[in-house]
Amino acid sequence: MKILFASSEAAPLIKTGGLADVAGSLPVALRHIGHDCRLILPGYPDVMNKADGLSTVAELKLPGEKKPAKLLQGTSGPHAVPLYVVDAPHWFDRPGNPYLSPDGDDWEDNAERFACFCRAVVAMALNQAKLDWQPEIIHANDWQTGLVAPLLQDVKQRPATLFTIHNLAYQGLFDQRTFVKLNLPSHLWSYEALEFHHQLSFIKGGIALSDRVNTVSPTYAEEVKTAEFGYGLEGLLQHRGSHFNGILNGIDYHVWDPLNDPSIAAPYCADDMSGKRQNKLALQREFGLPEAEHIQLFGYIGRLVDQKGVDLILQVLPGLMDSGVQVVMLGSGNKELEQALERINRKYHSRVGVKIGYDEGLSHRIEAGCDCFLMPSRFEPCGLNQMYSLRYGTVPVVRNTGGLADTVIDVNPTTLANGTATGFVFDIADGSSLWRALEHAIHFYLRSETDWEILARTGMQQDLSWEASAQHYLELYQMAIDDPGI
Ligand code: ADP
Ligand code: GLC
Repeated sequence: MKILFASSEAAPLIKTGGLADVAGSLPVALRHIGHDCRLILPGYPDVMNKADGLSTVAELKLPGEKKPAKLLQGTSGPHAVPLYVVDAPHWFDRPGNPYLSPDGDDWEDNAERFACFCRAVVAMALNQAKLDWQPEIIHANDWQTGLVAPLLQDVKQRPATLFTIHNLAYQGLFDQRTFVKLNLPSHLWSYEALEFHHQLSFIKGGIALSDRVNTVSPTYAEEVKTAEFGYGLEGLLQHRGSHFNGILNGIDYHVWDPLNDPSIAAPYCADDMSGKRQNKLALQREFGLPEAEHIQLFGYIGRLVDQKGVDLILQVLPGLMDSGVQVVMLGSGNKELEQALERINRKYHSRVGVKIGYDEGLSHRIEAGCDCFLMPSRFEPCGLNQMYSLRYGTVPVVRNTGGLADTVIDVNPTTLANGTATGFVFDIADGSSLWRALEHAIHFYLRSETDWEILARTGMQQDLSWEASAQHYLELYQMAIDDPGI
């Protein structure tokens, strides 16, 4: 099958969060089972610099665009995934990250930037670049690609479309003037297409007009059909009926492998976890904490945003300190949360280590060196860090929501007896519920080293690979091709 995977970020070229991990690994998994999946990305400086063998293959004159965009072809990453790059320097050749300027604000012209990207995806897919390759399906991801399906709506001979929601909290909402400025077909300004409460909604376009829609875990697929998680789109998601479902993400077993990870101090595996101790001591040293094998070490890695429940960690921190454990945290984002973390770092410097910033290598060392991983998210479409934690024998403490609920099995008498327990799960997003889960984790750790190791090992033995999920995506692609939903 020929699949064009459209994303606004993909590891190892450009990453702000989990979408990049998925866009970097699902195409590899699909190619591995014999399908011709190719990636298309905007030409940010990192993409232009890090992709291999880029050369210009076409010049695209796109509707609504003053200047033509170049289409480049090359490959991405160690698996040499075929890559197309939309080189439109006036939109993409900038410092900062794909969505934000260096001072942390959204780029003012994000609507124009990603409309250009969507138009280039459509032009490429309809062979306006005159290449010898045309996709049977476009797999579009998140709001930045939300205009792809709407732009194809009236095309008779078109590829099928799948739209994946990685996070419904980011929707690409703009005012009506922006809709006019983008020169989109006027009929798309309708309740059935892009108009959402008098605003332009990119994500609504993807949800309403793609042949199939999915999100990244079965539980989140149910949650977003409710008012609590749906941001007003719950009715539309319900309306898509069986054309909307949830497929759990996998993780990249080559990048996240404690037996073969160049970033960590010592290799280990489920059969021989002794190396994990060395990683713990090395991590304590790296953060300037007392090196002590038997002090329980908790870790956090992630974007510092409301979604992740970092404020709940701040609430329970004094209690954690009284319990004598250590905590290390790595993240960046919201300035107030960054400052709050720096404050607790100063206050509890002998037991808390904080690094503000983005550090790929350190994220691996935290996964390898900690005993427990904190992920008290308010909502979590899938979540990758709890899966990396399971793979690294670092027992996750998670809230019972989205992909966290689908990947972590709570420690209780039944799951301990049948050997399925993998972590500590709590229900309500408040400090006292998180604290109860943490007390449980602390007691469990202190009670028996052997039981703790069994728990960690059970996590390490879970199948978190892309194998099963890549098959589910293929089934969905085939359904979209055979039975267009629109
Ligand atoms: P989300 O996509 O909502 O941010 P995920 O758990 O799906 O959450 O994925 C986050 C990804 O980004 C993981 O690979 C995680 O390790 C990485 N990550 C997040 N923040 C940082 C950071 N400060 N430094 C290094 N990696 C980070
Ligand atoms: C989003 C979600 C996260 C998910 C990731 C990859 O950023 O917040 O839960 O794991 O996308 O699908």
